[in-house]
Amino acid sequence: MPENTPLLSVRDLKKTYQGASGPVEAIGSITFDVRPGELVCIVGPSGCGKTTLLKCLSGLLPPTAGSVTLDGAEVTAPPKKMAVVFQEYGRSLYPWLTVRDNVGLPLKARGVPRRERLAAVERALEEVGLGHALDTYPWQLSGGMQQRVAIARAVAYEPEILVMDEPFAAVDAQTRADLEDLVRRVWQDLGVTVLFVTHDIDESVYLGERVLMLSSSPTVVQQDLAIDLPAARDQLTTRAMPRFTELRTQVYEQIQRAKRGETVAAPS
Ligand SMILES: Nc1ncnc2c1ncn2[C@@H]1O[C@H](COP(=O)(O)OP(=O)(O)OP(=O)(O)O)[C@@H](O)[C@H]1O
Ligand SMILES: [Mg+2]
Repeated sequence: MPENTPLLSVRDLKKTYQGASGPVEAIGSITFDVRPGELVCIVGPSGCGKTTLLKCLSGLLPPTAGSVTLDGAEVTAPPKKMAVVFQEYGRSLYPWLTVRDNVGLPLKARGVPRRERLAAVERALEEVGLGHALDTYPWQLSGGMQQRVAIARAVAYEPEILVMDEPFAAVDAQTRADLEDLVRRVWQDLGVTVLFVTHDIDESVYLGERVLMLSSSPTVVQQDLAIDLPAARDQLTTRAMPRFTELRTQVYEQIQRAKRGETVAAPS
Protein backbone atom coordinates (compact mmCIF):
# COMPACT_ATOMS: atom_id res chain seq x y z
CA MET A 1 0.00 0.00 0.00
CA PRO A 2 1.45 3.45 -0.85
CA GLU A 3 2.51 5.42 2.25
CA ASN A 4 -0.10 8.13 1.85
CA THR A 5 -3.11 5.84 1.32
CA PRO A 6 -4.99 5.77 4.61
CA LEU A 7 -5.20 2.45 6.45
CA LEU A 8 -8.19 3.62 8.47
CA SER A 9 -10.72 6.17 7.25
CA VAL A 10 -13.47 7.57 9.43
CA ARG A 11 -15.98 9.66 7.50
CA ASP A 12 -18.74 11.81 9.02
CA LEU A 13 -19.21 9.24 11.77
CA LYS A 14 -22.22 9.98 13.95
CA LYS A 15 -23.60 8.04 16.91
CA THR A 16 -26.83 8.74 18.73
CA TYR A 17 -27.84 6.39 21.54
CA GLN A 18 -31.47 5.81 22.46
CA GLY A 19 -31.26 6.62 26.19
CA ALA A 20 -34.03 6.09 28.79
CA SER A 21 -34.99 9.79 28.62
CA GLY A 22 -34.62 10.28 24.86
CA PRO A 23 -31.81 10.29 22.28
CA VAL A 24 -28.21 11.00 23.43
CA GLU A 25 -26.09 12.49 20.65
CA ALA A 26 -22.69 11.08 21.68
CA ILE A 27 -20.79 11.73 18.44
CA GLY A 28 -21.79 14.72 16.33
CA SER A 29 -19.59 14.09 13.30
CA ILE A 30 -16.05 12.74 13.25
CA THR A 31 -13.77 12.56 10.21
CA PHE A 32 -10.10 11.55 10.17
CA ASP A 33 -7.60 9.23 8.49
CA VAL A 34 -4.81 7.11 9.93
CA ARG A 35 -1.94 6.22 7.57
CA PRO A 36 -0.09 2.91 7.79
CA GLY A 37 2.55 2.92 10.52
CA GLU A 38 1.28 6.02 12.34
CA LEU A 39 0.95 6.29 16.12
CA VAL A 40 -2.07 8.49 16.73
CA CYS A 41 -3.42 9.47 20.15
CA ILE A 42 -7.01 10.54 20.66
CA VAL A 43 -7.64 12.75 23.66
CA GLY A 44 -10.86 14.33 24.86
CA PRO A 45 -12.85 15.15 28.00
CA SER A 46 -14.60 12.40 29.94
CA GLY A 47 -17.86 11.37 28.34
CA CYS A 48 -17.03 12.93 24.96
CA GLY A 49 -17.49 9.63 23.16
CA LYS A 50 -13.99 8.13 22.93
CA THR A 51 -15.10 4.61 23.80
CA THR A 52 -18.14 5.01 21.54
CA LEU A 53 -15.82 6.00 18.70
CA LEU A 54 -13.57 2.96 19.27
CA LYS A 55 -16.55 0.62 19.43
CA CYS A 56 -17.79 2.01 16.10
CA LEU A 57 -14.43 1.72 14.39
CA SER A 58 -13.78 -1.80 15.69
CA GLY A 59 -17.14 -2.97 14.35
CA LEU A 60 -18.68 -3.62 17.78
CA LEU A 61 -21.33 -0.91 17.46
CA PRO A 62 -23.07 0.27 14.28
CA PRO A 63 -22.73 4.03 13.70
CA THR A 64 -25.92 6.05 13.26
CA ALA A 65 -24.46 7.61 10.11
CA GLY A 66 -21.13 7.81 8.31
CA SER A 67 -18.58 5.11 7.63
CA VAL A 68 -15.40 3.41 8.81
CA THR A 69 -13.09 1.88 6.22
CA LEU A 70 -10.09 -0.33 7.00
CA ASP A 71 -7.71 -1.14 4.15
CA GLY A 72 -10.38 -0.12 1.66
CA ALA A 73 -13.16 -2.33 3.09
CA GLU A 74 -16.07 -0.96 5.11
CA VAL A 75 -16.05 -2.13 8.73
CA THR A 76 -19.34 -3.79 9.68
CA ALA A 77 -18.00 -6.47 12.09
CA PRO A 78 -14.75 -6.84 14.13
CA PRO A 79 -12.01 -6.83 11.45
CA LYS A 80 -9.31 -9.54 11.43
CA LYS A 81 -6.65 -6.90 10.86
CA MET A 82 -7.45 -5.05 14.10
CA ALA A 83 -6.66 -5.90 17.72
CA VAL A 84 -8.26 -3.96 20.56
CA VAL A 85 -6.94 -3.57 24.13
CA PHE A 86 -9.50 -2.30 26.61
CA GLN A 87 -9.00 -0.63 29.95
CA GLU A 88 -10.34 -3.46 32.05
CA TYR A 89 -7.54 -5.97 31.56
CA GLY A 90 -8.65 -7.82 34.70
CA ARG A 91 -11.78 -8.89 32.89
CA SER A 92 -10.15 -9.49 29.51
CA LEU A 93 -7.86 -12.38 30.58
CA TYR A 94 -9.20 -15.83 31.46
CA PRO A 95 -8.14 -16.76 35.01
CA TRP A 96 -8.22 -20.51 34.32
CA LEU A 97 -5.77 -20.27 31.39
CA THR A 98 -2.01 -19.78 31.70
CA VAL A 99 -0.41 -16.68 30.24
CA ARG A 100 0.73 -18.82 27.29
CA ASP A 101 -2.82 -20.02 26.58
CA ASN A 102 -4.37 -16.59 27.09
CA VAL A 103 -2.00 -15.05 24.55
CA GLY A 104 -2.43 -17.97 22.14
CA LEU A 105 -6.23 -18.02 22.25
CA PRO A 106 -6.97 -15.69 19.31
CA LEU A 107 -4.39 -17.56 17.21
CA LYS A 108 -6.01 -20.88 18.09
CA ALA A 109 -9.40 -19.46 17.13
CA ARG A 110 -7.89 -18.43 13.81
CA GLY A 111 -6.61 -22.00 13.24
CA VAL A 112 -2.87 -21.25 13.43
CA PRO A 113 -0.98 -24.60 13.80
CA ARG A 114 0.30 -25.40 17.29
CA ARG A 115 4.05 -25.07 16.67
CA GLU A 116 3.65 -21.74 14.86
CA ARG A 117 1.27 -20.54 17.54
CA LEU A 118 3.63 -21.30 20.40
CA ALA A 119 6.50 -19.55 18.63
CA ALA A 120 4.35 -16.42 18.07
CA VAL A 121 3.22 -16.46 21.72
CA GLU A 122 6.80 -16.70 22.98
CA ARG A 123 7.94 -13.88 20.67
CA ALA A 124 5.11 -11.61 21.80
CA LEU A 125 5.76 -12.27 25.50
CA GLU A 126 9.49 -11.61 24.98
CA GLU A 127 8.58 -8.31 23.31
CA VAL A 128 6.66 -7.16 26.40
CA GLY A 129 9.32 -8.43 28.82
CA LEU A 130 7.34 -11.43 30.08
CA GLY A 131 9.26 -14.28 28.46
CA HIS A 132 9.64 -15.85 31.90
CA ALA A 133 5.92 -15.83 32.73
CA LEU A 134 4.59 -18.32 30.14
CA ASP A 135 3.32 -20.84 32.68
CA THR A 136 1.90 -18.47 35.27
CA TYR A 137 -1.77 -17.59 35.63
CA PRO A 138 -3.06 -13.99 35.26
CA TRP A 139 -4.10 -13.85 38.93
CA GLN A 140 -0.47 -14.49 39.94
CA LEU A 141 0.61 -11.28 38.16
CA SER A 142 0.45 -7.59 39.10
CA GLY A 143 -1.96 -5.25 37.31
CA GLY A 144 0.81 -3.84 35.12
CA MET A 145 1.98 -7.34 34.17
CA GLN A 146 -1.57 -8.36 33.30
CA GLN A 147 -1.81 -5.37 31.02
CA ARG A 148 1.46 -6.50 29.36
CA VAL A 149 -0.15 -9.90 28.76
CA ALA A 150 -3.14 -8.16 27.14
CA ILE A 151 -0.73 -6.22 24.91
CA ALA A 152 1.20 -9.41 24.07
CA ARG A 153 -2.06 -11.10 23.08
CA ALA A 154 -2.84 -8.23 20.71
CA VAL A 155 0.72 -8.24 19.31
CA ALA A 156 0.85 -12.04 18.81
CA TYR A 157 -2.17 -11.70 16.58
CA GLU A 158 -0.04 -9.53 14.25
CA PRO A 159 -2.72 -6.94 13.61
CA GLU A 160 -2.23 -4.19 11.06
CA ILE A 161 -3.73 -1.79 13.57
CA LEU A 162 -3.63 -1.90 17.34
CA VAL A 163 -6.39 0.07 19.05
CA MET A 164 -6.16 0.86 22.76
CA ASP A 165 -8.83 2.45 24.97
CA GLU A 166 -7.29 4.12 28.05
CA PRO A 167 -5.30 0.95 28.70
CA PHE A 168 -3.23 2.35 31.58
CA ALA A 169 -5.85 4.21 33.58
CA ALA A 170 -5.85 1.65 36.40
CA VAL A 171 -2.11 1.26 37.09
CA ASP A 172 0.28 3.30 39.24
CA ALA A 173 2.38 6.12 37.80
CA GLN A 174 5.67 4.20 37.53
CA THR A 175 4.03 1.19 35.85
CA ARG A 176 2.19 3.53 33.56
CA ALA A 177 5.45 5.16 32.45
CA ASP A 178 6.96 1.72 31.74
CA LEU A 179 3.89 0.70 29.73
CA GLU A 180 4.01 3.94 27.72
CA ASP A 181 7.59 3.16 26.76
CA LEU A 182 6.52 -0.38 25.92
CA VAL A 183 3.88 0.90 23.49
CA ARG A 184 6.42 3.09 21.70
CA ARG A 185 8.89 0.20 21.53
CA VAL A 186 6.30 -2.22 20.15
CA TRP A 187 5.27 0.42 17.62
CA GLN A 188 8.88 0.95 16.52
CA ASP A 189 9.92 -2.73 16.58
CA LEU A 190 6.90 -4.15 14.81
CA GLY A 191 5.88 -1.26 12.57
CA VAL A 192 2.25 -1.72 13.61
CA THR A 193 -0.20 1.18 13.27
CA VAL A 194 -1.42 2.32 16.70
CA LEU A 195 -4.51 4.27 17.72
CA PHE A 196 -4.32 5.10 21.42
CA VAL A 197 -7.16 6.72 23.37
CA THR A 198 -6.43 8.54 26.62
CA HIS A 199 -7.87 11.35 28.70
CA ASP A 200 -4.32 12.18 29.89
CA ILE A 201 -2.89 15.17 28.00
CA ASP A 202 0.76 14.52 28.93
CA GLU A 203 0.44 10.88 27.91
CA SER A 204 -1.02 11.83 24.51
CA VAL A 205 1.90 14.20 23.78
CA TYR A 206 4.57 11.81 25.10
CA LEU A 207 3.26 8.84 23.10
CA GLY A 208 1.82 10.27 19.93
CA GLU A 209 3.27 11.28 16.62
CA ARG A 210 -0.07 13.00 16.17
CA VAL A 211 -2.81 13.96 18.62
CA LEU A 212 -6.47 14.24 17.68
CA MET A 213 -8.36 16.37 20.16
CA LEU A 214 -12.06 15.76 20.51
CA SER A 215 -14.65 18.28 21.63
CA SER A 216 -17.37 17.57 24.20
CA SER A 217 -20.49 15.73 23.00
CA PRO A 218 -21.86 15.99 20.35
CA THR A 219 -18.26 15.31 19.44
CA VAL A 220 -16.19 16.61 16.54
CA VAL A 221 -12.41 16.65 15.97
CA GLN A 222 -11.37 19.92 17.58
CA GLN A 223 -7.78 19.83 16.36
CA ASP A 224 -5.35 17.46 14.64
CA LEU A 225 -1.89 18.29 16.01
CA ALA A 226 1.44 16.91 14.76
CA ILE A 227 3.83 16.06 17.62
CA ASP A 228 7.23 17.13 16.35
CA LEU A 229 9.27 15.64 19.19
CA PRO A 230 12.27 13.39 18.41
CA ALA A 231 11.38 9.74 17.75
CA ALA A 232 13.65 8.47 20.53
CA ARG A 233 11.73 9.46 23.65
CA ASP A 234 12.38 8.86 27.29
CA GLN A 235 10.43 9.81 30.34
CA LEU A 236 12.99 12.24 31.75
CA THR A 237 14.50 14.10 28.80
CA THR A 238 11.43 14.23 26.53
CA ARG A 239 9.14 15.49 29.26
CA ALA A 240 11.70 18.16 30.23
CA MET A 241 11.91 19.58 26.68
CA PRO A 242 10.51 23.12 26.16
CA ARG A 243 8.74 21.81 23.04
CA PHE A 244 7.00 19.14 25.14
CA THR A 245 5.68 21.87 27.44
CA GLU A 246 4.52 23.98 24.47
CA LEU A 247 2.66 21.05 22.95
CA ARG A 248 1.01 19.98 26.19
CA THR A 249 -0.09 23.61 26.76
CA GLN A 250 -1.66 23.67 23.28
CA VAL A 251 -3.52 20.44 23.94
CA TYR A 252 -4.58 21.61 27.40
CA GLU A 253 -5.96 24.89 26.05
CA GLN A 254 -7.91 23.09 23.33
CA ILE A 255 -9.41 20.67 25.86
CA GLN A 256 -10.45 23.62 28.04
CA ARG A 257 -12.13 25.17 24.98
CA ALA A 258 -13.81 21.85 24.28
CA LYS A 259 -15.16 21.76 27.83
CA ARG A 260 -16.58 25.27 27.37
CA GLY A 261 -18.28 24.03 24.22
CA GLU A 262 -16.17 26.13 21.81
CA THR A 263 -15.85 23.69 18.96
CA VAL A 264 -14.40 25.90 16.23
CA ALA A 265 -10.88 24.59 15.57
CA ALA A 266 -8.06 27.06 16.02
CA PRO A 267 -5.32 26.88 13.37
CA SER A 268 -2.66 24.33 14.39
N1 LIG B 1 -25.21 2.34 25.79
C1 LIG B 1 -25.42 3.65 25.97
N2 LIG B 1 -26.67 4.15 26.00
C2 LIG B 1 -26.90 5.47 26.15
N3 LIG B 1 -25.92 6.41 26.25
C3 LIG B 1 -24.65 5.97 26.23
C4 LIG B 1 -24.31 4.58 26.09
N4 LIG B 1 -22.96 4.45 26.10
C5 LIG B 1 -22.48 5.70 26.24
N5 LIG B 1 -23.46 6.61 26.33
C6 LIG B 1 -23.33 8.08 26.46
O1 LIG B 1 -22.54 8.54 25.38
C7 LIG B 1 -21.61 9.54 25.77
C8 LIG B 1 -20.19 9.11 25.42
O2 LIG B 1 -19.81 7.97 26.21
P1 LIG B 1 -18.40 7.26 26.07
O3 LIG B 1 -18.34 6.15 27.03
O4 LIG B 1 -18.15 6.96 24.64
O5 LIG B 1 -17.42 8.45 26.52
P2 LIG B 1 -15.83 8.43 26.84
O6 LIG B 1 -15.25 9.61 26.14
O7 LIG B 1 -15.27 7.10 26.52
O8 LIG B 1 -15.79 8.70 28.40
P3 LIG B 1 -14.64 8.31 29.48
O9 LIG B 1 -13.50 9.25 29.26
O10 LIG B 1 -15.32 8.56 30.79
O11 LIG B 1 -14.28 6.86 29.26
C9 LIG B 1 -21.85 9.75 27.26
O12 LIG B 1 -22.74 10.83 27.41
C10 LIG B 1 -22.54 8.47 27.70
O13 LIG B 1 -23.37 8.67 28.80
MG1 LIG C 1 -14.25 5.62 27.67
